[in-house]
Amino acid sequence: MELLDKPWTEKYRPSSLGEVIGQEAIVDKLKEFVKVKSFPSMIFSGPAGVGKTTSAIALAKELYGNQINEAFLELNASDARGIDVIRGRVKEFARTMPLSGGMVKIIFLDEADALTSEAQHALRRTMEKYSTSTRFILSANYASKIIEPIQSRCVVLRFKPHKEEEMKKYIERIAKSESLEVNDKAVEALLYVSEGDLRKLTNIMQSTAVSERKVTEKSIYEIAARARPKEIIAMLKYALAGDFVKSRTELNTLVLSHGMSGEDILLQCYREALNLDVEDRLKLKIISMIGDYNFRIVEGANDRIQLEAMLASLALVKADK
Ligand SMILES: Nc1ncnc2c1ncn2[C@@H]1O[C@H](COP(=O)(O)OP(=O)(O)OP(=O)(O)O)[C@@H](O)[C@H]1O
Ligand SMILES: [Mg+2]
Repeated sequence: MELLDKPWTEKYRPSSLGEVIGQEAIVDKLKEFVKVKSFPSMIFSGPAGVGKTTSAIALAKELYGNQINEAFLELNASDARGIDVIRGRVKEFARTMPLSGGMVKIIFLDEADALTSEAQHALRRTMEKYSTSTRFILSANYASKIIEPIQSRCVVLRFKPHKEEEMKKYIERIAKSESLEVNDKAVEALLYVSEGDLRKLTNIMQSTAVSERKVTEKSIYEIAARARPKEIIAMLKYALAGDFVKSRTELNTLVLSHGMSGEDILLQCYREALNLDVEDRLKLKIISMIGDYNFRIVEGANDRIQLEAMLASLALVKADK
């Protein structure tokens, strides 16, 4: 039944600026723009799932109401057909009927940091050409990947990862509306695996709620293909105690029953290593090792061998003492 539901990321996407969670300074600024019906081109930067697209759409809804389709165009910069197609569509859109009241239109360009620097220069010329009738909102994970001439023509708004409190409220909201049972352990797991990304959080909740009205800790880790923090800690601790065999058994569980990749496991090792209760020098050594093995895996070395080699090196730290 739930499979036929529309994605919760759409169902629970705020439709007005007032409903956007967190990002207060940005939302205040956008509300001000709505009030004075005037605004500059902007860069929305920040990690995934923090409200960049959501805020752009909410802004457009408040500015244009039912004229939104004529006034707001969403394009994706990573469109394989390239910058020429984007320019063509911008041209077409900017040329069509002006809006009543002389309002400017908005072109929202998602993943603008995926454009090469040449493409960005071409985009900049397009932005200038239509600057009287349109404003651009460029969405990017990193504002620094946008060329300086564009940055200097835009107001840069930096979105931040969501705080735990905000994410908890969101979980409650969905749980209530979907009549879901989510206990404290499950909330904790959701916060851990979603890392400040509300899209990830929403998708995991929807996937786990497919078969029952319950979101459990177990199903969350399964769906997210993440290990519980304590499983990672156990593996690291056995290794650090010099017990390679036991730590390898823990590794087996992660790989075989959770289907985790080498990179995923190392990323979690890194997160847990930061909190390990060991002396500082040892912690530095562990983190530096994780870095080395991560690099080898990214470069294409065999996951399994590298992970075991890392556990062996950790076990040797003890033996060397
Ligand atoms: N600040 C927020 N307030 C309310 N909901 C949010 C917020 N941020 C994200 N969400 C929820 O998470 C989903 C993804 O958000 P959005 O599309 O705005 O992310 P994004 O920042 O554009 O990410 P990406 O860089 O991946 O495009 C939305 O469906 C929305 O419901
Ligand atoms: Mg987006």
